[in-house]
Amino acid sequence: DAPETDPFDVARIAADEIAARTGVARHDIALTLGSGWGKAADLIGETTHSFPAQEITGFSAPALAGHAGMLRSVLLPGGKRALIIGARTHYYEGHGVRRVVHSVRTAAATGVSTMILTNGAGGIRETWTPGSPVLISDHINLTADSPLEGATFVDLTDLYSARLRTLTRTIDPTLDEGVYCQFRGPHYETPAEVQMAKAIGGHIVGMSTALEAIAARQAGMEILGLSLITNLAAGIQKEPLSHGEVLEAGKLAEPVIGALLARIVAAL
Ligand code: 6GU
Repeated sequence: DAPETDPFDVARIAADEIAARTGVARHDIALTLGSGWGKAADLIGETTHSFPAQEITGFSAPALAGHAGMLRSVLLPGGKRALIIGARTHYYEGHGVRRVVHSVRTAAATGVSTMILTNGAGGIRETWTPGSPVLISDHINLTADSPLEGATFVDLTDLYSARLRTLTRTIDPTLDEGVYCQFRGPHYETPAEVQMAKAIGGHIVGMSTALEAIAARQAGMEILGLSLITNLAAGIQKEPLSHGEVLEAGKLAEPVIGALLARIVAAL
């Protein structure tokens, strides 16, 4: 975390540790599994290695029950290798943005060229029902922070790959898409903030993903983003929000969206 430390050096070290632990020199695809998406880990292929992320340099201990904190190396049926990141460091944990994007940079250093970012999030569109997955078409980063340091000017056009979104729609043509707003959290938004997000073009509110996507783009990866709508955002749904409700919606949706993600990975 020291300013003079190069975060890419730390990612290189972490990638070397993963290679040593798994005996897998190169991973092709990485998946960060957010709330509700965990089941996909068991469905996409054969897990050959599984270990707590915190045993790898730069990864922090899980902050939250319900967030598993494991890394897995999975052999896909076609012979490719997936790195599953079941350990997300959230911006609201306050460890700084370097920690938040360390898993993405580590994935890049292991050779990954396709980054799949998933999350559980709130929906702004009244027509969305909790338990539905939606594709992320773009994002609005409301953290006022960036994983890029210094004069690093990175283009974010087509950040969430149009090619991968089209491919995903061939698997599930009913999938809607929307613009993801990353708030800092850890509180949920006020109804007024949700109206602001809507007014500036947002459809999904959450506390992750955007900063990770920026780091993934910097690393040259192709990105697919998927949100599970666990609830409607404050003021859109009449009932108050609770973390319990979010976890519950995730549990219920898990088998269906896990299977969807497995089909997407198989089609890559
Ligand atoms: Cl409504 N907001 C945010 N920021 N994150 C969420 C959410 C809402 N629902 C699930 N995750």
